[in-house]
Amino acid sequence: KGDTVFNATPANSQSCASCHNADGNSAIAANPKLAQQHPEYILKQLQDFKSGKRKSAIMKPMATALSDDDMRNIAWFVTSKKIKPGFAKEKDLVGLGERIFRGGIADRQIPACAGCHSPNGAGIPAQYPRLGGQHAEYTAQQLTLFREGTRLNSPVMTGVAAKLSNKEITAVADYIAGL
Ligand code: HEM
Ligand code: HEM
Repeated sequence: KGDTVFNATPANSQSCASCHNADGNSAIAANPKLAQQHPEYILKQLQDFKSGKRKSAIMKPMATALSDDDMRNIAWFVTSKKIKPGFAKEKDLVGLGERIFRGGIADRQIPACAGCHSPNGAGIPAQYPRLGGQHAEYTAQQLTLFREGTRLNSPVMTGVAAKLSNKEITAVADYIAGL
């Protein structure tokens, strides 16, 4: 059923697949890949878009059109798809990105991302989302939104992102794309 809802076009709008691809591997770097993401995390994001806890002018009307059953069906549909691997592109920054992901930055109390998102970036069900393979542009954008206080649906991530510089965000997002 999730397949049908994901590809259906709600009134006056676009289908999920038109932005996230039929297999959940969006081709556009600003749109997140949803394939292989934990269903509990997908469900929480759709609920947060609908309630306005997570702000997105694009996703708010999409999530609002979905029933609780639709959301559950979509979450189980996208989790069943395999994520298309990505790769790191910033040769000069990938070392910095890896250090932050694996060890954090101790003297500035920045925790290791791997502690919650697992060393291979697959996340830890159900609470901690998969990051590995995600478009670097999307990941960097989310870290910036957490840092600015625009994305407010995770106090933990607000705290982590608050301490990261632009360069560190670019580096860790690029490294994550290649996990
Ligand atoms: C984000 C699902 C339709 C563009 C997301 C996220 C989910 C999702 C679960 C959060 C992903 C994450 O946190 O990793 C869906 C579903 C749709 C749909 C189920 C259909 C009902 C669309 C459409 C577009 C779109 C039609 C493009 C016009 C985006 C963008 C984001 C996003 C740009 C990032 C939002 C942000 O700034 O935080 N979507 N999506 N989505 N989606 Fe969709
Ligand atoms: C979500 C990155 C450290 C817990 C996220 C997201 C990103 C991210 C990009 C959003 C994923 C998406 O939109 O698809 C990072 C990076 C870290 C880091 C780069 C290290 C610098 C941590 C740590 C924890 C944590 C240490 C646990 C203490 C979470 C949780 C969410 C999340 C719970 C889900 C938020 C929600 O429900 O909306 N992280 N993370 N992260 N992260 Fe992290």
